[in-house]
Amino acid sequence: MTTRADLASSADYATAVATAVSAAGDYYRDGSTPLGDDEYDALVRAIEAWEQQHPDDVHPDSPTGKVAGGAAVGDVPHSVPMLSLDNVFNDEELTHFAAGLERRLGRQVGAWCVEPKLDGLAVAARYQGGRLVQMLTRGDGLAGEDITHAADAVLGLPATLTEPLDIELRGEVLLTTAQFETANEIRIAHGAAPFAHPRSGAAGTLRAKDRPYRIELTFFAYSAIGLDGLGHSALLETLAALGANTAASTAASPLRCESLEQVHGRIAEITALRSALPFGIDGVVIKADSPEDQFQAGHGSRAPRWAVARKLPAEHKVTRLLEVEWNVGRTGVIAPRAVLEPVNIDGVIVTYATLHNPGDIARRDLMLGDQVFVYRAGDVIPRVEAPLVDQRTGAEKPIVFPEACPRCGDAIDTSGQRWRCVRGRGCQAVASVIYAAGRDQLDIEGLGRTRAVQLVDSGLVSDIADLFTLDKEQLLTLERMGDTSADNLLAAIEQARGAALNRVFCALGVRGTGRTMSRRIAAHFGSMAAIRAADVETLAVVDGVGPERARLVVDELADLGPVLDKLIAAQVGTTVTEPATPAVGDAGEDAVAGPLAGQSVVVTGSMTGDLASLSRNEMNELIERAGGKASSSVSKRTALLVAGEKAGSKRAKAEDLGIQILTPEEFAALVTDYLHR
Ligand code: IVH
Repeated sequence: MTTRADLASSADYATAVATAVSAAGDYYRDGSTPLGDDEYDALVRAIEAWEQQHPDDVHPDSPTGKVAGGAAVGDVPHSVPMLSLDNVFNDEELTHFAAGLERRLGRQVGAWCVEPKLDGLAVAARYQGGRLVQMLTRGDGLAGEDITHAADAVLGLPATLTEPLDIELRGEVLLTTAQFETANEIRIAHGAAPFAHPRSGAAGTLRAKDRPYRIELTFFAYSAIGLDGLGHSALLETLAALGANTAASTAASPLRCESLEQVHGRIAEITALRSALPFGIDGVVIKADSPEDQFQAGHGSRAPRWAVARKLPAEHKVTRLLEVEWNVGRTGVIAPRAVLEPVNIDGVIVTYATLHNPGDIARRDLMLGDQVFVYRAGDVIPRVEAPLVDQRTGAEKPIVFPEACPRCGDAIDTSGQRWRCVRGRGCQAVASVIYAAGRDQLDIEGLGRTRAVQLVDSGLVSDIADLFTLDKEQLLTLERMGDTSADNLLAAIEQARGAALNRVFCALGVRGTGRTMSRRIAAHFGSMAAIRAADVETLAVVDGVGPERARLVVDELADLGPVLDKLIAAQVGTTVTEPATPAVGDAGEDAVAGPLAGQSVVVTGSMTGDLASLSRNEMNELIERAGGKASSSVSKRTALLVAGEKAGSKRAKAEDLGIQILTPEEFAALVTDYLHR
């Protein structure tokens, strides 16, 4: 797909025109498009640039200079052509536009009106004697499609005006964010595919006839035929008085501005409000306010010369769904999360997005490898809405739903919309006991999943500290627990009581800490009581913690307060801590020696070769022993990524950032020589 800024050859130009024509066709048919809005705009700009250099070779199909990219059709002639708007993309281009207009007028523009550019579809609504008689789409600007059947469902478009006028209202029909969400709930309940985007939802809804359900839309009037001689801001007031909805009813209300400086100010205000608005905007429209200025400026074949759209970056992008992860929350809810091919949405790189519940995923027919619409509206967590089904290559794979709770392994209650571990909050207790008993933490032999489940279910254990006050009598009440098993388990627990402080701390599973961090924290504070008393300042000085992680850890410690108290009372973790960086060879105490000295290393995917049997913890230990710092996420600071089989988003991110990537075999060769010296 050609979306590059420069077109190098006439073949590139022809491809670009074909891509744009096809995208504009999809867009004006049903509001969908395989290109994001930003990409479409960039493509048309590249086409324009090429055509300026090659004016004799302009393709007849070229979308430039045409309303709706030349794509839309309709058979009802418009009373007056429905024009589009020219775009500017930054402040300088806007200043340039204003200067051009003032040059044309031979004077300064009297006043401007600045208002939101609503992201929907333009319609014309005809009134006779104050009664709504017909509604049309814009079509190609000269003739549109009759969509009168949909008028009932359009809020803000009155069936009768407050005065018996023969006029035509023009404005935008859209789905507000709330209407979009309701629409998709209704669609899914009826077994219909959800809308990928509010605009395609509005387009589809306006055209649809005979649907067994009703979807409401919203109209915003911004112009009219038959109310001549009014300035733009006065016209908007009249439209509101006639009963039509206008943007004046919103936080981003139109503002009459006396100076260009004020215009820039209002644009900044509306832009800042964008995320808080209850509907989507894709820009800000700046119009010369007075009828004299408008009349004298006139219009071209596509757009008026007295108005311009200052476009804003799209809040939605198309990217690829790479993986779905299933995370278990504190209450046992199992929530899917999308791992995406990293995509820049309005200046933020988006790698993860929330997905709907499992039933929705199935109904939306999402597949791994799909091109998907992703939204980052304001500061809402990005969300995957729907797949672009006609972009499929056949290589897409079904999303695998978990059959057991990914945290504790027990069954999943799939009866509700949201899936839950059958244990609910208890999932956390079972999982934390299993984790704590693991080889890399307290290493309690004989305490696997089955026993953990029994201990939690019987009420004997609700957190890891309870393990240390168990007695034999209690254990013998459990099924399949004989004398010897009970003795063995108690002996293993007793041994764990003497485990090094870092292992006990690690066993708590504090968010933001792993084995390495646990060793550093234990070495720094020296006792569980001191860790319990730590505040953000004291924690932040521990190597690699920093203020943000310190805050997280302090919150976690507060949450774990009662467990920590019980551990302290049971004298667990009073043994000396294992060294933070195990000395390798003859390396001095603080020296970070080794082939990875001081480097941040991330491991992803499954290990192969000599490293195949190593757990992630053991890999991290290996990294530390070779002088490196093990980390779980790829960032600018990452020096090296060890990427095994099925490496996904971390590999993609490392490639993007130009970080060195080694196979497990190459990594083994790098460190093992050194470690075996
Ligand atoms: S004025 C002759 N004002 O943007 C005036 N258009 O990209 C032409 N739009 O076709 C339109 N909000 O569908 C105008 N406040 C607004 C608008 C607006 C959204 C749409 C409209 C237009 C398109 C041009």
